[in-house]
Amino acid sequence: MSGPSNYQPKSALGRWVHERLPIVAFAQDHLMSFPTPKNLNYWYAFGGILAVMLVVQLITGIVLAMHYTAHVDMAFSSVEHIMRDVNYGWLLRYMHANGASMFFIAVYIHMFKGMYYGSYKAPREILWMIGVLIYLIMMATAFMGYVLPWGQMSFWGAKVITNLFSAIPFFGEAITTWLWGGFSVDNPTINRFYALHYLLPFVLAGLVGLHIWALHVPGNGNPTGINVKSSQDTVPFHPYYTMKDAFAIVVFMLLFAAFLFFAPNYLGHAVNYLPANPLVTPAHIVPEWYYLPFYAILRAIPDKLGGVVAMFGSILILFVLPWLDTSRVRSGTYRPIFKQFFWIFVLVCIGLGYLGSKPAEGLYVVFSRILTAYYFLHFIVILPLIGLLETPKPLPSSISDDVLAKKKPMVPAE
Ligand code: HEM
Repeated sequence: MSGPSNYQPKSALGRWVHERLPIVAFAQDHLMSFPTPKNLNYWYAFGGILAVMLVVQLITGIVLAMHYTAHVDMAFSSVEHIMRDVNYGWLLRYMHANGASMFFIAVYIHMFKGMYYGSYKAPREILWMIGVLIYLIMMATAFMGYVLPWGQMSFWGAKVITNLFSAIPFFGEAITTWLWGGFSVDNPTINRFYALHYLLPFVLAGLVGLHIWALHVPGNGNPTGINVKSSQDTVPFHPYYTMKDAFAIVVFMLLFAAFLFFAPNYLGHAVNYLPANPLVTPAHIVPEWYYLPFYAILRAIPDKLGGVVAMFGSILILFVLPWLDTSRVRSGTYRPIFKQFFWIFVLVCIGLGYLGSKPAEGLYVVFSRILTAYYFLHFIVILPLIGLLETPKPLPSSISDDVLAKKKPMVPAE
């Protein structure tokens, strides 16, 4: 936040602390009085929901770690021990496993919201890029976490994904051996994945701090995409958005609880309740749902190295999104053509997810190729072109004007 803080310590102790470490002023400026556009809708609550889910994952993960054993001979049974013997161990484990899925549901909504409203555009490019880095680290963390229960899908999933690195020319084999800590997915692999799975969420927490910092320099975007012009356009974060976010968090937690208590294994794979067996390959090796679109892209390309490049490319291209979108108008609300292509893109991502869950054969492969090509076309051709060709709708003159224009006139009571 720019400008001096308006926090005034009320007690002698408060003044003493403030002069040495103005932490209360910092919290007051960033969590309470922070001027926030008054037109934020519920899509803007997902950042707060994500922060809550990160804390849920950290707390449940740390308690799970107190009972888990990272060893190929004991990992599977230590998880069964958590489920059966540890007090509320079943709840902890189901919260952590379903919590990961909820975290990804929230992050996908958060990212698509950013894409629709053009939140990645100047001056928020670094904010967006930190977001993409957070997303990459989330994917790595969840992948390594999934290996820890040492079920059949843990083992074979780890094998397929780590083997991808062997496609790298010259150094591929060496890199894979180095990742495994041996000549196959084995005890050193589970040990290092455990160490990293414990470490990375704290790296995420640090990156979230940077993300919020980068957000609070320009301030929040908003659904109109136009800049804040006067204090009329904003309200203090507390109580307006603390309350709005709290309501959204409660509703989101109800969805979480529905999975947790009524369908705790719905998003998982039954085969992961069999202990890992390097001698028996499961009929279909399928990753968790949140990786499926990328899995479809990987398998769409007939060449192994090509598939790996396309898969990583499909995520890395997000880093340069702010420079691929050529439109001067931020929000999709005022971009009639962009809006339609945005929804086509959402459908393509869902379609790729569906195809990723199917065997790589016949028509599934054909459609995977078409949708993969479209995915890249969206970023490289469609976005730059519509930015240049489309005529945006007129923008409101200010956030306040837009809010007032939408307000229904008050009708006096009869
Ligand atoms: C642990 C993960 C994350 C947390 C805790 C988080 C947190 C937040 C919060 C609290 C906000 C402000 C409220 C809102 O707009 O929702 C925000 C805004 C934003 N985030 Fe994230 N975020 C995360 C991941 C991501 C990812 C993966 C991306 C993109 C790839 C991203 C991109 C953005 C953008 C562009 C904004 C600005 C929106 C605007 O002001 O219009 N974030 N984030």
